[in-house]
Amino acid sequence: MIIARTIDELQEAKNTLLGSIGFVPTMGALHEGHLSLIRKAREENENLIVSIFVNPTQFLDGEDLDKYPRKDEADIKICQLASVDILFMPAISQMYERDELCIGAPMISGYVLEGASRPGHFDGMLQVVMKLLNLSGATKAYFGKKDAQQLALIMQMVRDYFLDVEIVPCDIVRESSGLALSSRNVYLSTEEKIRALALSKSLQKATNLIISGELDSAQIKAEMVEILSVVDEVEYVAIVDRTFNEIDKVEIGNSMILVAAWVGKPRLIDNIWV
Ligand code: PAJ
Repeated sequence: MIIARTIDELQEAKNTLLGSIGFVPTMGALHEGHLSLIRKAREENENLIVSIFVNPTQFLDGEDLDKYPRKDEADIKICQLASVDILFMPAISQMYERDELCIGAPMISGYVLEGASRPGHFDGMLQVVMKLLNLSGATKAYFGKKDAQQLALIMQMVRDYFLDVEIVPCDIVRESSGLALSSRNVYLSTEEKIRALALSKSLQKATNLIISGELDSAQIKAEMVEILSVVDEVEYVAIVDRTFNEIDKVEIGNSMILVAAWVGKPRLIDNIWV
């Protein structure tokens, strides 16, 4: 595995590759969720590039940029074991200039839910993903459904800017308890981790209600909020169509249920695609 820490090193390493390139961008502190993307990309492409870059422009003032978990040594080992060809770990100075052209998230779907809670977050996320996709030269790039709105906006950017890359959505990986894996779970104490299960439990409850024929969004959300009473703060519970418009009735095959809540230090998100 080649570790490239500069753009030049990345270009040089890429010149040694023959055949298709799969790409998995991450912010590190790798867990089984990231690994599921890496494994899928390994299977589907001749070459595999993974990036680890804690992107400052997608963190808002007061968010956890300085405290974001960093585990470079373990991450390098994990990537080696997963047969990654190139691990791209750039410094901030490699990725950003002082007065940059900016990419903006769409004014509607980029500013609801996560975009409403974290205004500006998606601008920075799209900016870095655009750079990383171009740098990787990948034909396929892999993203998790865990960050459903991020995934949808990246797919929209690829469409709107005619980028020549296929975005591959990957299922959410969970602990056996149901908790969706996240780099931020390391902030949770044992007691908080138990309370954090309310997110996946509320989504499981929603699934059961839908299976039993309950499609009314208000009714489903009310039952979810009850289960979520153990978290510190619920930021949103939303039932939306695949373009992130809130809907009054679940439409099977075209709906998503999303939740964001604070438990102790971290803000956690989870969702199901119905
Ligand atoms: P990060 O949070 O490190 O996540 C990297 C990728 O792993 C994302 O596509 C995310 O959706 C996926 N992922 C995280 N947890 C997952 C889980 N439990 N199951 C399945 N996939 C999971 O998302 C980012 O980094 C950044 O915003 C990035 C796209 C790298 C741009 O900076």
